[in-house]
Amino acid sequence: RKAAFSSSARHLKDINSVTVIGAGLMGSGIVQVAAQANYKVTMVDTTDAALKNGQAIITKSIKRVAKKKFGEENAAEQQAFIDKALSNITVSTDGPAAVAGSDLVVEAIVENIDVKQALFKALDQAAPADTIFTSNTSSLPITSIAEATSAARRERFGGLHFFNPVPAMKLVEVVRTEVLKDEVYDSLATFAKNTGKTPVECKDTPGFIVNRLLVPYMMEAFRVLDRGDAKAKDIDVAMKLGAGMPMGPLELADFVGLDTMKFIIDGWAKEGKIEEALVTPSKTLNSLVEQGSLGRKSGKGVYDYS
Ligand code: CAA
Ligand code: NAD
Repeated sequence: RKAAFSSSARHLKDINSVTVIGAGLMGSGIVQVAAQANYKVTMVDTTDAALKNGQAIITKSIKRVAKKKFGEENAAEQQAFIDKALSNITVSTDGPAAVAGSDLVVEAIVENIDVKQALFKALDQAAPADTIFTSNTSSLPITSIAEATSAARRERFGGLHFFNPVPAMKLVEVVRTEVLKDEVYDSLATFAKNTGKTPVECKDTPGFIVNRLLVPYMMEAFRVLDRGDAKAKDIDVAMKLGAGMPMGPLELADFVGLDTMKFIIDGWAKEGKIEEALVTPSKTLNSLVEQGSLGRKSGKGVYDYS
């Protein structure tokens, strides 16, 4: 009983201001749900064009959210909700300056360990000692990314893994490394709940829970396609109508981004911590990425969206 009391009295880091690094598919969605929950959010990317892309994704999505929340007929309420959320967002190309005033950093940049480590090295020096760092990585060990930061920061460095499309998907995986402080874990779970999501706890293992199961399934669909055992459309229709999936595995890969899919699978193959058969590359996936067909975000992937 006493233990329960003392644990509930643990001090939670009060998160008010958030910096999200990366204004792509995921970063823009994380900015949006945090702003809707009334956090002050700074969205950071390397160029103004990337920030504009993120703002365009948010503008489109938040209209859908407002319509659903208040109903088609309540235009004034919809607009007030949109204006309030958007007023919580600022944009910047200066990551270190943004994190200097933030309680929480969520990184959602390209799925590459070297690029992520270089970013966090710079941010570690610029952020206050108690700022919590997180990565939205799909497949990289949080512990390895955190190696770019000081030992003290590593105790305040967790995984915060949202799902695509962020405004619609209700899960966040909160990843606990061996050294993450309990009170930091609790602050992250509370933040996830405040954005309207259900947090689940997982260890820092490849793919956490969802991607450890989902990515091998999607890669197996590419291998069926590679062998010519079925056409893309038939694979997708089969999994939607025969297994109740909201999207087929190849449609979903286009939705995730084929470059991200390839980063995930090549990274796991290199690390050698997952059964070899599950990380066998796909000719189709590799050749599409080589042609710059990265899925929906580039207008073409397995399917053509132009
Ligand atoms: N912004 C805001 N709201 C959105 C939205 C967006 N971008 N996309 C969908 N929605 C909302 C809609 O408003 C709608 O709400 P209601 O039904 O309550 O009105 C709801 O979501 C469903 O949308 P639609 O009716 O337009 O379309 P749908 O029924 O086909 O659902 C979907 C769309 C939710 C994307 C659905 O197809 C789906 O669940 N697909 C699978 C997504 C998935 O598996 N994501 C995980 C990818 S893996 C990942 O993210 C991890 C990783 O690390 C790679
Ligand atoms: P994306 O390609 O849509 O966006 C990445 C953004 O990061 C781009 O706007 C790019 O300009 C920016 N960027 C790259 N390097 C940067 C740097 N050094 N500083 C600031 N900005 C930088 O990618 P995404 O799909 O949003 O994925 C982002 C992260 O989220 C990846 O780690 C990915 O694995 C993970 N993730 C992706 C999905 C998905 O379904 N796409 C789901 C969950 C997690």
